[in-house]
Amino acid sequence: MTQTLEPRDWGLGTDADGRLMIGAESAAGLARAYGTPLHVLHEERLEATAVRFRRSMEAAYPGRTSVHFAFKCNSVPAVIEAARRAGLKAEVMSPFELELALRLGYRGDDIVVNGPGKTAAFLKMSVESAVRLIAVDSLGELALVHEIAQAARKRVDVLLRVNPDFVPRGMNAGSATGSRKGCAFGLDLRSGEVRTALGLVQSMPGLRFQGFHFHIGTGIRDATVYARVLDRLAPLFRETRADGFRVDIVDIGGGFASSTTREMTSRELLVYQGLGRLPARVSVGDCASFEDFSGEIARALLRIFPGDELPELISEPGRSIASPNQFLLLTVSYVKTRPKVRKWLITDGGLGTVTLPTFYECHEVLLADDVRRPRTENVTIVGPVCFASDIVYRNIRMPEIRPGEIIAIMDSGAYFIAQESSFGFPRPAVVAVKGNTCRLVRRRETFVDLMGRDILLTPGDHSGGQS
Ligand SMILES: Cc1ncc(COP(=O)(O)O)c(C=O)c1O
Repeated sequence: MTQTLEPRDWGLGTDADGRLMIGAESAAGLARAYGTPLHVLHEERLEATAVRFRRSMEAAYPGRTSVHFAFKCNSVPAVIEAARRAGLKAEVMSPFELELALRLGYRGDDIVVNGPGKTAAFLKMSVESAVRLIAVDSLGELALVHEIAQAARKRVDVLLRVNPDFVPRGMNAGSATGSRKGCAFGLDLRSGEVRTALGLVQSMPGLRFQGFHFHIGTGIRDATVYARVLDRLAPLFRETRADGFRVDIVDIGGGFASSTTREMTSRELLVYQGLGRLPARVSVGDCASFEDFSGEIARALLRIFPGDELPELISEPGRSIASPNQFLLLTVSYVKTRPKVRKWLITDGGLGTVTLPTFYECHEVLLADDVRRPRTENVTIVGPVCFASDIVYRNIRMPEIRPGEIIAIMDSGAYFIAQESSFGFPRPAVVAVKGNTCRLVRRRETFVDLMGRDILLTPGDHSGGQS
């Protein structure tokens, strides 16, 4: 059963005039108080979502479970802290994310390190920080981690990241990280690279093999996908154990969808980017629940492993935790109509600066000033940057909107802030609403921030800022 989304699907409400409300605050009121573009974080709901995710894994799986929040999806400290209060640990993929985790007080033991392009400096930092696990992505990286471990006189716990050559049906190429042809990530299962890595680990005293990791993409709505990947890896697990290794950990990565937004399929992406035809609006009801995901995963692991050898189940959700609990407010500055051609809403944020994921994902767009105003026309929503592709959505069905009104791009919690740019404009602030209180958790970028990295030539100073 599918149905159109309502504000309550994001834990939001409306007042008597149809204004979008978060707790006691009107979204448009926040926009006018803090300025736009503005991200609004539903802090309490994010924490509750993360608790539900963790509990669903714990309830479904009889073995040990750990949930690590994927920092890459949204590394605003207020977001990370809410996930942490919910009992989630950290998954990081860059020196910056590791530094952030350490500064926020995570112990090395709570951190999993990932990523396809880890530098020697990053690996060294990871080893020195005594992170719990490094997920090794290639044979070259395996040799490098070993060298660094030996130099540090440490024994480092590693997972082997497997590329299972598995692409969920319809997933667009940009998201398909488990594709053998389309994505460089991981050790190649089909050509035997994983077995080669296992053989090498055996001869590397600086490393301790702990298990396997995979991450097959994002926005996955069908829970059976995870069971199918695990079934594909079952022979590898069996052979590894037969070779005398213990598979103590299976790390299934992230990828779980937020039910209130969705990735465009490969076909939809082609049709939208080629012909300007936007896919149908998102509807709820076609997305597995956390309980469905954890149930499928637990049953698959119980089928594959003997009861006394159940591995620890690690998951790394990002999108499913953060995406639905944040929205982005934009002001419509101008409305422009060219008869028989098109009507544009010109706003203060497009994919050149703040909405990059709208290039390949379907997000609901609400009129924050009046959610109930009927959708009567197709418009193209664009941003303020002087380039023709600075689009939020082409040909989207919207109500008639007046300049000065505020629109809300829903589900802006995953990969929006991570991919925003200061292309001519400062990056947005983030305000967090918790109960009836609201606080600024990230201030808007200033012009001084934007100029701060430059060595300015000021009158009388021709040294280029260097002494
Ligand atoms: C290794 C790994 N783990 C976890 C994630 C988080 O994925 P998602 O936000 O889809 O849950 C990603 C995302 O790219 C990833 O690459």
